[in-house]
Amino acid sequence: MESELMTKKPGPLYRELADEVQKLIERRSLRAGQRLPSVRVCARQRQISIGTVTEAYVVLENRGYIEARPKSGYYVRNRPAEMPKASPGSVLGPPVVVDEKDLAEHILDLSLDPSYFPLTTAFPGPGILPLEKLAKIASAVGKSDPGILGKYSMGRPYPPFVQELSRRYLQTGASLGHDDFIVTSSCSEALHLALGAVTKPGDVVVIESPAYFGFLMLISSMGLRAVEVPVDPKRGLSLEALTVALDSNDAKALIVTPSFHNPTGASMSNARKELLYSILCDYDIPAIEDDIYADLHHGPIRPKPLKAWDRDGRVLLCSSLSKTLAPGLGIGWISAGRYRDRIDEGKWTTSPLFTQKVAALFLQEGYDRQLRRMRAEYKKQLSAVKSAVRRFFPRGTTMTEPDGGFILWVELPPAVDTLELRLDALEEKIGTAPGPMFTMRDQFRNCIRLNCGLRWTGEFERAIQTLGRLASRQIDKKLMAAKAG
Ligand SMILES: Cc1ncc(COP(=O)(O)O)c(C=O)c1O
Repeated sequence: MESELMTKKPGPLYRELADEVQKLIERRSLRAGQRLPSVRVCARQRQISIGTVTEAYVVLENRGYIEARPKSGYYVRNRPAEMPKASPGSVLGPPVVVDEKDLAEHILDLSLDPSYFPLTTAFPGPGILPLEKLAKIASAVGKSDPGILGKYSMGRPYPPFVQELSRRYLQTGASLGHDDFIVTSSCSEALHLALGAVTKPGDVVVIESPAYFGFLMLISSMGLRAVEVPVDPKRGLSLEALTVALDSNDAKALIVTPSFHNPTGASMSNARKELLYSILCDYDIPAIEDDIYADLHHGPIRPKPLKAWDRDGRVLLCSSLSKTLAPGLGIGWISAGRYRDRIDEGKWTTSPLFTQKVAALFLQEGYDRQLRRMRAEYKKQLSAVKSAVRRFFPRGTTMTEPDGGFILWVELPPAVDTLELRLDALEEKIGTAPGPMFTMRDQFRNCIRLNCGLRWTGEFERAIQTLGRLASRQIDKKLMAAKAG
């Protein structure tokens, strides 16, 4: 539809307007149930005739996109949740970056729709993040220091916040001064800045395989190329494969999540982190380390970041409070080593001082207690999901054994196609994250990532049971087809 529209010569004015509105509906800028601007207002603003707007709306009505409601105006119609770009046709094609992006974007959209059970994104579920306590702190800061809302940060961090970060990293074994940190609005922004500092469009970066789809989207939007290196579910990034990749590519950086990797949950041991650092030195490349899940260890010790071994500033450590405190707070950071000034020069904005102050107070007061509670809950939730997968998924299914975070990577028998499963699950109102979302190559078709950040409930159990049933049905159908053929 898009390409057809783009190659078409401009048609009559009414059709151009109809096409424009249709695109907004398809992109969900205009949502089901929303009222369109009235014919009169639209005609006045655009300086076209009322007849032209009316005709455009009638065209859209005929195409099934909008409906007229008597005495009220035109409204976007309820269309099926599946939009054309996410149909199997567009995701089953050859593995090119843009397809992955479409799939990921559709899945992100879906995570905002509360009518789907949210196994899609790696979000903690309701009741797990300490939002009420955070709101109380925010309100107290607003009352006691309203002037802070009137201040620009001028790109400078709020000292108590970065001092708190420095203190916390010291405990993990990484000695980082408070002035090493640049405050960002999220881990994603930190990753974006890090990639921008060490690459230019067209460069090659090494990523894990499977990889967090946010990395794939960033890489694609920045015009970079990626080489995928396998992650071993038990030992994390394969260092053997990494050296092969570095031997055969002029890679400019590695992006790595050494602790509780998304989507496998795998972690590297200290010895392997140390070895990784020496490989980076041998090949003289920087590493962008994503440390976002490390505080969510299930065992007694918080894993050391790769940054702890960094002697020459080649590790750019990125993280945020999105998984442990509140994604809506909008606060992350980067400790960029030798690239610090390069990033700082171009950066004039940070997370607002108000937000940093609220975060600093939380980190100083209840954060450790909160982390202890969350770790215990995630451990319990992961164990409940694993046991349900064992009960309900087809024989031959295997899964990872994360000892931190809240993500589980499940490998189903080869006959199961999780892209197909995703469509079947949508009909049952379950959102899923199929394996192909986490790669730019044609692989992981029989894998699925499960978000275990949600409280274990009967509804959750039913969702896992349903996925298991749908997967088994696929296997049966394929077996029958093979027998018949
Ligand atoms: C590995 C990883 N990095 C970064 C992010 C994004 O973090 P933020 O919300 O702070 O941008 C996520 C979120 O799912 C993630 O899983």
